[in-house]
Amino acid sequence: IRCQSTNTKEPKTNGNILDNASNLFTSLLSGGSLASMPIAEGAVSDLFGKPLFLSLYDWFIEHGGVYKLAFGPKAFVVISDPIVARHVLRENAFSYDKGVLAEILEPIMGKGLIPADLDTWKLRRRAISPAFHTLYLEAMVKVFSDCSEKMILKSEKLLREKEVSSGVDTIELDMEAEFSSLALDIIGLSVFNYDFGSVTKESPVIKAVYGTLFEAEHRSTFYFPYWNFPPARWIVPRQRKFQRDLKVINDCLDGLIQNAKETRQETDVEKLQQRDYSNLKDASLLRFLVDMRGADIDDRQLRDDLMTMLIAGHETTAAVLTWAVYLLAQNPEKIRKAQAEIDAVLGQGAPTYESVKNLEYIRLIVVEVLRLYPQPPLLIRRTLKPETLPGGYKGEKEGHKVPKGTDIFISVYNLHRSPYFWDNPDEFEPERFLRTKESNGIEGWAGFDPSRSPGALYPNEIIADFAFLPFGGGPRKCIGDQFALMESTVALAMLFQKFDVELRGSPESVELVSGATIHAKNGMWCKLKRRSK
Ligand code: HEM
Repeated sequence: IRCQSTNTKEPKTNGNILDNASNLFTSLLSGGSLASMPIAEGAVSDLFGKPLFLSLYDWFIEHGGVYKLAFGPKAFVVISDPIVARHVLRENAFSYDKGVLAEILEPIMGKGLIPADLDTWKLRRRAISPAFHTLYLEAMVKVFSDCSEKMILKSEKLLREKEVSSGVDTIELDMEAEFSSLALDIIGLSVFNYDFGSVTKESPVIKAVYGTLFEAEHRSTFYFPYWNFPPARWIVPRQRKFQRDLKVINDCLDGLIQNAKETRQETDVEKLQQRDYSNLKDASLLRFLVDMRGADIDDRQLRDDLMTMLIAGHETTAAVLTWAVYLLAQNPEKIRKAQAEIDAVLGQGAPTYESVKNLEYIRLIVVEVLRLYPQPPLLIRRTLKPETLPGGYKGEKEGHKVPKGTDIFISVYNLHRSPYFWDNPDEFEPERFLRTKESNGIEGWAGFDPSRSPGALYPNEIIADFAFLPFGGGPRKCIGDQFALMESTVALAMLFQKFDVELRGSPESVELVSGATIHAKNGMWCKLKRRSK
């Protein structure tokens, strides 16, 4: 990456081979037409000192809502503008695929929804969407609260032991690890009725799932895809381990699919959606998908779908909960406000589908956490044909021409912290969503307006006209948004119903790292204390 502040010029070279090759490649890739864009050029050190999405923010402030990032032999287009994001994600969604992301995830998720090509995606999205119906979500709230209760009981036991052994009334826990186990247990039960039991024990399958997630993260941050070189599978120890981990998970999923097929009963989708979920032993998505489609469903496709939901639904939710305790721990008055709501709505009881809807402040906390720490911070696309982007908010009336094959990052992080769309963008203020905000005069952007999405469970991308993308937008928007929102609301409500939480160290000592999601580098160590009466 070359460093030079210019909005119009092509990158300068210092004459080295990499720079020259990079410029040649960039201009071949762009056919010269990306040249109309501002170019962000930074020192290579900008990339290594901090996560990429933070560097992209600095360049956004410098260069505006659409700029080109020249990176070694590659050029990326970075979008931080709601009008252009709306065009890519919704209005012209089928002119893009998942590009680099699909290349990284394909060995793990196969043709699952996230990396799927458009033809596969259209079929599978139509098959999977009906599975997230109201009665399913209602049954899942029970799963969320049962699993959260196990985490709370475990913490209470640790606290009692600590009190007895040393008289100290506080325990220290890495909440990132706790939430990771909780989210894994929940996703296992809800997607394929498998009890990982990871809050209380370890198993080879759990280890394999974490190993696979770790590898996905490694691949998303490594500089070149050496794993595509077939001998790497045998020569590189971590790639050998990855193949072993995949086999453990695939064998487990294959067994569950086989079992679901052998015990299949019904075929009619409407009946399936109306069945009595309160008495159903297995309310999982797998059960629904197999019952709906029957024996003709392709095992491989089903396994890819399950694996995709396992990964998509686990890491994201765990990250949201982790950053929620980070932000709340720094705002004790917001913890009190949340606890007042929990007491009023739940008392000492467990959440239900109906009561979760009344935990409005907790839900706004979750949404505000997603604004400040979006998971993932960047959405990735690649043009399938030459494209012309619309003008953005800075009066960039002339559309930039983007050639086929261009890699695009939509920076959700930049949109969510943009000083052009948010007051005090870096402040944690769940209450901000209760205030109405008019369009700020930006041509082509409709402002925030709840009436555009009446009855919405949360302030979504339609209300914000793509300035806020907590679960993406357009046809490839998250399929599990309501599931995830309720899950996070239940887990946070049950934690703060019983405990007060503080950070163990200073907020500044928590270091960010990012792969697919934003993590705390050394865990999120917190002090948990029984709530004062
Ligand atoms: C897609 C966020 C939880 C399943 C997405 C996308 C985002 C997202 C931003 C769009 C990606 C893109 O456009 O490239 C989140 C967040 C979650 C969460 C923040 C938790 C707080 C879940 C859960 C599930 C799930 C619980 C499943 C049970 C999926 C799937 C897709 C997806 C299958 C791909 C949809 C498609 O391409 O049709 N998610 N997600 N997610 N998510 Fe989620």
